[in-house]
Amino acid sequence: MGLDSRYIWMDGKLVDFQHANVHFLTSALHYGLGVFEGIRCYAAERGPAVFRLREHMERLVDSARVLGFRTLPFGVDELIEATKDTIRANGLSSCYIRPLIYHTADIPTLNLDKGEARVGIAVWQWDSYLGEEAREKGVRANISSFTRHHPNVSMTKAKVTGNYANSMLAKTESARLGFDEAIMLDPQGYVAECTGENLFIVRQGKIFTPHTAPILEGITRDALVTIAGDLGYPVEPAPISRDQLYIADEVFVCGTAAEVVSVTEIDFRQIGTGRMGPVTRRLQDEFHAAVRGKHQRSIDWLTYVN
Ligand SMILES: Cc1ncc(COP(=O)(O)O)c(C=O)c1O
Repeated sequence: MGLDSRYIWMDGKLVDFQHANVHFLTSALHYGLGVFEGIRCYAAERGPAVFRLREHMERLVDSARVLGFRTLPFGVDELIEATKDTIRANGLSSCYIRPLIYHTADIPTLNLDKGEARVGIAVWQWDSYLGEEAREKGVRANISSFTRHHPNVSMTKAKVTGNYANSMLAKTESARLGFDEAIMLDPQGYVAECTGENLFIVRQGKIFTPHTAPILEGITRDALVTIAGDLGYPVEPAPISRDQLYIADEVFVCGTAAEVVSVTEIDFRQIGTGRMGPVTRRLQDEFHAAVRGKHQRSIDWLTYVN
């Protein structure tokens, strides 16, 4: 498969990569009945270290509760240990980590109380989601023609696999139009988030980000709010309109997969100078230091694998 991965953890055991399969009739495959996480392990100075592992596993279990699973075969502590075991077994110094809790039953069903939850954790080496070049040059984005989830239609606090059909529609449309990423508006018409990232704007020295109600509460978003606060830039959650993006001095997006990336053009309009702005650069530098164990916050945020 071209992934640098030999073992996948499945329901308590490390399974050879090519044997880590699920049955065709698994309900998760038919109806999107699963919840997942995206986590990164970095080659930190003292060895491989996972960024905010506990928070990610807590969000995974919260996602399962939001979706409606009543019982899970593993708890947060077991999932943390399983993640460390999987990274060690694969001998990786840095990797992307994908835990998934999925529903299975004798026949595909929409009733979560029939059948049970199964859990897998895969790890592989994966460079930045938006590409290495994006880190320095930034990306071009469009406002998607697809609306982001309504909180009472899809559960926006949960990383439900089925929710990602919405991200896929927006991402594919954006790529086919020649952009790097799509920005999605919430059902009220305000800026929500991207297909896999949260969004911030900088205007006249102040940083704003959308309220949490219609978005996924990103763990990178939370880290950047903390780092920005440490640097003396309080971040204000606020409704953000589409045209406020156009006239911002800086726009940047963040997520586990993409990390911190500046948005230099939206809907064919240049943002600020058309290059990564000073606030984005400062936060990107601090974030990179934090994930590699070179920051005052690293002690709280890193879990060493060994
Ligand atoms: C829709 C969406 N928003 C935001 C994020 C960023 O979240 P995090 O920083 O926890 O990776 C993600 C990625 O998980 C996502 O899928």
